[in-house]
Amino acid sequence: MTVLRLELDHITCRYDETPVLSDISLTVKPGEFVSILGPSGSGKSTLFKLLTGARKPDGGSMRFDGHMLAGTIRPFAFMPQRDALMPWRRIVDNTTLGLEVKGMHRAEARRRVLPLFSEFGLDGFEQHYPAELSGGMRQRAALLRTVVQDKPMLLLDEPFGALDALTRAGMQRWLEEMWSQHDWTAMLVTHDVREAVYLSDRIYIFSSRPARVIREITVDLPRPRILDGAARARATEIEADILNTLFNAPNATRTNLEEPR
Ligand SMILES: Nc1ncnc2c1ncn2[C@@H]1O[C@H](COP(=O)(O)OP(=O)(O)OP(=O)(O)O)[C@@H](O)[C@H]1O
Ligand SMILES: [Mg+2]
Repeated sequence: MTVLRLELDHITCRYDETPVLSDISLTVKPGEFVSILGPSGSGKSTLFKLLTGARKPDGGSMRFDGHMLAGTIRPFAFMPQRDALMPWRRIVDNTTLGLEVKGMHRAEARRRVLPLFSEFGLDGFEQHYPAELSGGMRQRAALLRTVVQDKPMLLLDEPFGALDALTRAGMQRWLEEMWSQHDWTAMLVTHDVREAVYLSDRIYIFSSRPARVIREITVDLPRPRILDGAARARATEIEADILNTLFNAPNATRTNLEEPR
């Protein structure tokens, strides 16, 4: 029997009197790419706060590789929703930050990150500052800082949300390739339906706040995700199915969801 990497069981969370997460149960298997798709303000980032330990759930249990998640040291490399690069640090020093925080000497951290710069399309930009990079490059640098921490699972909170459509499509393709090459287990939060379908093995659809899982969808598309012919038609079908679920959910509004471009 495969041990589940992550298992959330009946998780609830509220801010003061406002319930935000209502009875969330979900699982992630080792090596799986799972997305959480839901309206803005539904509680997706809050779920990551619970996983990373920034906040405690009000109810339910969280297990990782069969063990209860507790304490301050968590098995996740987390890429936060908002621009996480420090503008005063060079790119190389931004990418070593997570390792330095864990106590690694800067020189050793550099030896670990520098060989990865070309794979992340950042060759030659090691000594630049974040403001000198394009939006896509900044996100790749933030992702490099995340994966280099060597944690068993990645948590990505809308990593491409601030990018233009063309750059975002390129980044999705790149991430899918990277995910296939490395043996990553990943959970992605997004409100972009097409992004979720393109990248995921499974998708959990959240309702608006207080969030509950209104549907779980298995994305039965071949990998690598070269979406032409039959695969493109199937992807479009899944996207339409998801939009239908979202728009027909109680409290759904058209303004807080992104339709596929
Ligand atoms: N620290 C906080 N104190 C009180 N309320 C909060 C706090 N953080 C978030 N909330 C509220 O909880 C709800 C869920 O917020 P959260 O950031 O988890 O949503 P989200 O699904 O990530 O939204 P988005 O897609 O816009 O990022 C929102 O209504 C928000 O206003
Ligand atoms: Mg969020």
